[in-house]
Amino acid sequence: MKATAKAHTNIALIKYWGKRNEALILPTNNSLSITLDGFYTTTSVEFKEDLSKDAFYLNDCLIEGEQSNRVIKFLDLVRDLAGKELFAEVNSTNVVPTAAGFASSASGFAALAGASTKALGLELSETELSRLTRQGSGSACRSIFGGFAEWQKGQKEDGSDSYAVPIATESHWDIRVAAVVLSSKMKKVSSRSGMRRTVETSPFFRGWVDSIPADLTAIKEGIRDKDFEKVGQIAEANCLKMHATTLGANPPFTYWLDTTMSVMQTVQELRAKGIPAYFTIDAGPNVKVLYLPEHEDMVQNTLSNVPGVSEVKLSKVGKGITFLKDDEFA
Ligand code: PMV
Repeated sequence: MKATAKAHTNIALIKYWGKRNEALILPTNNSLSITLDGFYTTTSVEFKEDLSKDAFYLNDCLIEGEQSNRVIKFLDLVRDLAGKELFAEVNSTNVVPTAAGFASSASGFAALAGASTKALGLELSETELSRLTRQGSGSACRSIFGGFAEWQKGQKEDGSDSYAVPIATESHWDIRVAAVVLSSKMKKVSSRSGMRRTVETSPFFRGWVDSIPADLTAIKEGIRDKDFEKVGQIAEANCLKMHATTLGANPPFTYWLDTTMSVMQTVQELRAKGIPAYFTIDAGPNVKVLYLPEHEDMVQNTLSNVPGVSEVKLSKVGKGITFLKDDEFA
């Protein structure tokens, strides 16, 4: 009763920001992301008769506390679905440099969902798997698919129509993402509590939600037509709108540091020099930059030279979830 799955993380071009149901992880708006080839998690799950509780190992370390409780809660959902009561040993390897500012929860929960359901013999479609994965971590439901994926918020109270759908495969369009890692860190407001505070207190939240349908329609046209400028402009503006909602919250907060703003400015200067590059930022200070393959060296060198930047990691568009044989674990 063992299975291994590999899933890549994703970066949202249209952000998921706000929940309508916290327990089921149902969002207030649709979101759209690129799955990234460079950052992934491989997870193997083995259900065993002789275990008296679940055990979660991340990069060979036994994890306890909040992080492990989220994994156990997710395994409970899978056990319910399969009608089985066995405990599991979970072994995860993250090739998502935590410092790169990617929430490893996206690739982590997608790989966990794939491996745990397969290990218990559940034959789920990708849609079913995405819907289940959503309940581990919202953004993870998009990582079931490669290329470009849209998470449909759905209308139903039970969340049965809230899952990701593929928009274009990874071979559709070779665009790149640079993850710009900053050297200074700050105390993090988690995406979960940041979203909650924004939904409950920010007067800008309504404007954010109302602006999403037009952004989605336009960005999907841009992806279809491989119109990099259109996609980049919409993604950058959508990110700025999301971050603007946090400034209207009570108490107000921001995920940005001074270096975050320097990187944003550098990206705008690249554009002024004729290099199309656009930024997006999640619930943290690090910046992700979209660019075209022919500008890779220029973009990497320019971003690496911004004072306060410690590292720039590059990625192509990645594949959806895959299942590995035992000897392929990596
Ligand atoms: O799924 P979570 O709880 O990691 O939230 C992700 C929220 C953002 O990264 C800010 C946006 C997104 O759509 O990924």
